[in-house]
Amino acid sequence: MRVAIAGGSGTVGERVTRAVRERGHEAVVLSRAAGVDIRDAGAVRRALEGADAVVDVLNINTLNTDRATEFFTSATAALLDAEKAAGVGHHVVLSIVGVDRAPHGYYAAKLAQERLVESGGIPWSIQRATQFHDFARQMYDGARLGPLHLAPRGRVQPVGADEVADRLAGVVEGGPAGRVPDLAGPQEESLERMVRAYAHAQGAGGWIPAISLPGGLGRAQRDGSLLPGPDAILGRQTFDAWLSGRDPD
Ligand SMILES: NC(=O)c1ccc[n+]([C@@H]2O[C@H](COP(=O)([O-])OP(=O)(O)OC[C@H]3O[C@@H](n4cnc5c(N)ncnc54)[C@H](OP(=O)(O)O)[C@@H]3O)[C@@H](O)[C@H]2O)c1
Repeated sequence: MRVAIAGGSGTVGERVTRAVRERGHEAVVLSRAAGVDIRDAGAVRRALEGADAVVDVLNINTLNTDRATEFFTSATAALLDAEKAAGVGHHVVLSIVGVDRAPHGYYAAKLAQERLVESGGIPWSIQRATQFHDFARQMYDGARLGPLHLAPRGRVQPVGADEVADRLAGVVEGGPAGRVPDLAGPQEESLERMVRAYAHAQGAGGWIPAISLPGGLGRAQRDGSLLPGPDAILGRQTFDAWLSGRDPD
């Protein structure tokens, strides 16, 4: 099978690319680093020639609803257009557990992306996953007040990015399946604790006060909206196992 991976150089994308190749398929990466900007329709069309399936793991780093929605909807539309031209038979997208329960900011954009895929005319699979373990680093780096790092309060069930990638490669092989069962990590964690544990593992001392992030997204993070339901498939790697196994930055 020839599989195109949009965002195939990102955190989960490079793992998907590896997993697809390990399963004996040909992988084609679409990313600016690989010379394909998703906003360049001609380049996208050329990259999808001969592809049997597309995995969309593109991303934009913003919490702004409009910016995120513009990115995910225009990128998805560009992919679907090129897939029609190339005769691609399966569009797989990675989304996030709870986006319909917490349609705020970035999550609203991911929900809009799902809707486009469902109505886009290419047979599809939507895999939702919880936050990757690396979410602790993103929060540690991103939630700051001057020099002070903050630990956002939240209930999460983080999953290993390797396990998400392997699952996506399996979804590709399984063919179009609609919404497939959610994927989550093995256990619920406190985001506050994760951020502090990450800081500790980095050798960063000092006080990391807890914070309740404002707005719907912060509230959803705290009220359990982003936790998986009983039907979710659970990965095996815990946050602590990920933390102790990773190379220090
Ligand atoms: N991170 C999580 O905890 C998590 C959890 C569940 C689901 N997800 C979903 O998983 C997906 C991937 O997340 P991630 O954290 O792996 O993303 P990431 O590390 O930020 O990677 C983003 C990828 O998108 C590519 N990209 C961005 N803009 C592009 C453009 N204009 N044209 C072509 N390629 C572009 C990047 O490559 P270049 O910069 O080289 O273009 C990179 O390969 C997202 O849709 C996210 O919502 C993430």
